[in-house]
Amino acid sequence: MSDKTAHLQIKGQGPIELPLHQGTLGPDVLDIAGLGKHNLFTYDPGFVSTASCQSAITYIDGEKGVLLHRGYPIEQLAAHSDYLETCYLLLCGNLPNAQQKTEFEQRIKNHTMVHEQMISFYRGFRADAHPMAILCGVVGALSAFYHDSLDISNAEHRDIAAYRLIAKMPTLAAMSYKYSIGQPFMYPVNKLSYAENFLHMMFGTPCDEVSVNPVITKAMDSILLLHADHEQNASTSTVRLTGSSGANPFACIAAGIAALWGPSHGGANEAVISMLQEIGDESRINEFIKRAKDKNDPFRLMGFGHRVYKNFDPRAKVMKEAADAVLRELGMENNPLLPIAKKLETIALEDSYFIEKKLYPNVDFYSGIILQALNIPTSMFTVIFAVGRTVGWISHWHEMISHPYRIGRPRQLYVGEMQRDYVPIEQR
Ligand code: ACO
Repeated sequence: MSDKTAHLQIKGQGPIELPLHQGTLGPDVLDIAGLGKHNLFTYDPGFVSTASCQSAITYIDGEKGVLLHRGYPIEQLAAHSDYLETCYLLLCGNLPNAQQKTEFEQRIKNHTMVHEQMISFYRGFRADAHPMAILCGVVGALSAFYHDSLDISNAEHRDIAAYRLIAKMPTLAAMSYKYSIGQPFMYPVNKLSYAENFLHMMFGTPCDEVSVNPVITKAMDSILLLHADHEQNASTSTVRLTGSSGANPFACIAAGIAALWGPSHGGANEAVISMLQEIGDESRINEFIKRAKDKNDPFRLMGFGHRVYKNFDPRAKVMKEAADAVLRELGMENNPLLPIAKKLETIALEDSYFIEKKLYPNVDFYSGIILQALNIPTSMFTVIFAVGRTVGWISHWHEMISHPYRIGRPRQLYVGEMQRDYVPIEQR
């Protein structure tokens, strides 16, 4: 915070003084909260210029391509940390020491199973239901099972809800997949690491134990880590807004999952693969680039562009390296989508339309390629994003609830009819 102020001069009125806040990093933020008492509101569709909260969790510099979690660069976390350690960092504010790390992992492991009755929920879905549809439903339903972690004014309840959500998401996600392919649900195995356990529940069967390749486990852990948080994006803002009404954490995360599903957000990783398949051959790339640039065509190059990054998404750089490692390990350098993806990336990075609009490949451009190489069906891609992002959502919810907060209630610029009198139906 700072003592700087800005003055808003409206013709015919005295100046309105507005405080200008300074964060530890990033641009100053004009505090317009007091405008309401002058009967003035700001207009910012899509929240392009609006900071909705104070947060100490994640910092992004979109111009420079910087992403910091609690101050640590994402590249360093991806190289040296792992998903659960990053969860601790996001939730608790600092990296754990060895004992804290072990205790945290143990705490998460204590909660990996879901209530046996949850199975009945799955059975209620059509077998061809999209796993994101199932996930929205079953995560919201957790609030019907875990009454002992619903009191949001109780710090212990909030902690248990956070552990439960982080622990149960892979189980619920894998169950969604198993249900969709008609295979038995697999119980979690707590001696495995978080990523290994997820792959076990996805690909193991009661008949066959899977032995998970360490390169694949590392790639899955990296995917989860790189998706762990991204400050006030659409789904996180949804979680905060939902939480601001006092809703329970499971309901809030279910709302976040719904917001994530859209193709402009988490649904993009699924859309990237559909797009690459639709392109089908390098010879057709120019045709799709042309379509992406055509104002009259709604088509967009999926996996390109970002509201905040006007430079390479730092997560995309790490993801690209992980994609190369996985494809090499699996001997899949001949994956037919890879040359299309690489050529598309090169062309887009050299094309004046994409350069001028600062449209760089985002994290979803490469995560889809890895997940496809791991034999994960495209309908599960956004589910995996949701598994990774759960810690970000719950950390932001936790941060909000732990401080004084008010219900989120935006105003509007009304452009509808003036007041008019009701007309009886026979006179219309
Ligand atoms: N392909 C072609 N043109 C694009 C693309 C794209 N992928 N993205 C943006 N543009 C163009 C827009 O048409 C617009 O052009 P104009 O200025 O001539 O009107 C300009 O770039 C700015 O785009 P906006 O939609 O205004 O940018 P916004 O910040 O609202 O949207 C978004 C960002 C949604 C990510 C957008 O770039 C997009 O739709 N990308 C494709 C979907 C995608 O990959 N989403 C994943 C985001 S990352 C994540 O959630 C993990």
